[in-house]
Amino acid sequence: MSFKDIFNIDGEVKESAHARVNLIGEHTDYTGGYVMPTLLSFKNTIEITENNTNEFIVYSQYFKEKKAFNDFKKSTNNEWVDYIKGCLHIFFEENKISSRYLNIYISSDIPLERGISSSSALCVATLKALNTFFETKIKDPEIAKLAKKVEFNYIGVSGGIMDQMVSSIGIHGKAFFMNCKNLEYELISFPKNWKFCLIDSEVQRNLRNSSYNERFAELQEAERSLGVEYLGGVKKQNFQPDKFDNNTIAKRAKHVVFENDRVINAKKNLIENNIYEFGNLMNESHESYSKDFEASTLDVDLIVKRSVECGALGARLTGGGFGGFTVSLIERNNFSHWYSKILNFYPAEKIFEVN
Ligand code: GLA
Repeated sequence: MSFKDIFNIDGEVKESAHARVNLIGEHTDYTGGYVMPTLLSFKNTIEITENNTNEFIVYSQYFKEKKAFNDFKKSTNNEWVDYIKGCLHIFFEENKISSRYLNIYISSDIPLERGISSSSALCVATLKALNTFFETKIKDPEIAKLAKKVEFNYIGVSGGIMDQMVSSIGIHGKAFFMNCKNLEYELISFPKNWKFCLIDSEVQRNLRNSSYNERFAELQEAERSLGVEYLGGVKKQNFQPDKFDNNTIAKRAKHVVFENDRVINAKKNLIENNIYEFGNLMNESHESYSKDFEASTLDVDLIVKRSVECGALGARLTGGGFGGFTVSLIERNNFSHWYSKILNFYPAEKIFEVN
């Protein structure tokens, strides 16, 4: 069903935002470190018109559901429409404009709860559509910060700014390297012989209910133990595990400190077209994410192992952890070999080409 089928008129404004895959740099964003995601072709599209009723009417093509409301109170049972209410609430509050009632239509092909930031893409697309509709001229980095506010302040999920920034500013086919402390970023092209592929572990993850918030708190404890504002400022060579009373906190911190070093090396290797070194860094990143950060699952570890055995140069779990997609790096001229071998383990519907 299209916008017209639902609302009987054509949409006036249309904006989209893409999901992302993080190539390397996990749980480093909210600790002032480095990340390197890239956009996927999966996306959310938001269409808007004004309506002459006294309520907001939102239709989700994904859930095939229509919701109407005239206040921005969050539901008590985590409904999808909360993200839209949150965006409207934050947008009107920040811009000090009085709200007008709107028809909002959401279409999306982003698989949910798979670690590719479907929620950030939804918030970024909604805020961009509101920005266009109300002609507020908010710049893309500010859209990202508003989207983060929606997730952090309104929805109540801990997290960093990586997903919103890449979804708002990123370019398809380029790596988005970012220093999360000052939000400076670089867009870097992939060499022609590099190919990334996702494999869906089908282990659904839910940021709210998973151990994401626990890891977030553990890293804050690590920062307190070291007496630093951000773990991202700690260099690998200065990392002293004996500064921690608690071994678990030491392992979590080690993952972040070494992961930052890997992201910086990964960027250098990407620019210099060192595909083997980049692949090794992805493998080391997964090992650390699984053993020290304990954010993987047995199914995910098996996918990563098989992908490398089938010929990937590197493979790792991507995103917040505890299930979702894995990402593999494959040399393009070896792709059909890797693909035919991986099909012995996983069906084609679970495998997605990134570039
Ligand atoms: C989620 C969060 C991000 C980031 C990743 C882990 O996607 O939204 O901010 O922390 O997890 O790297």
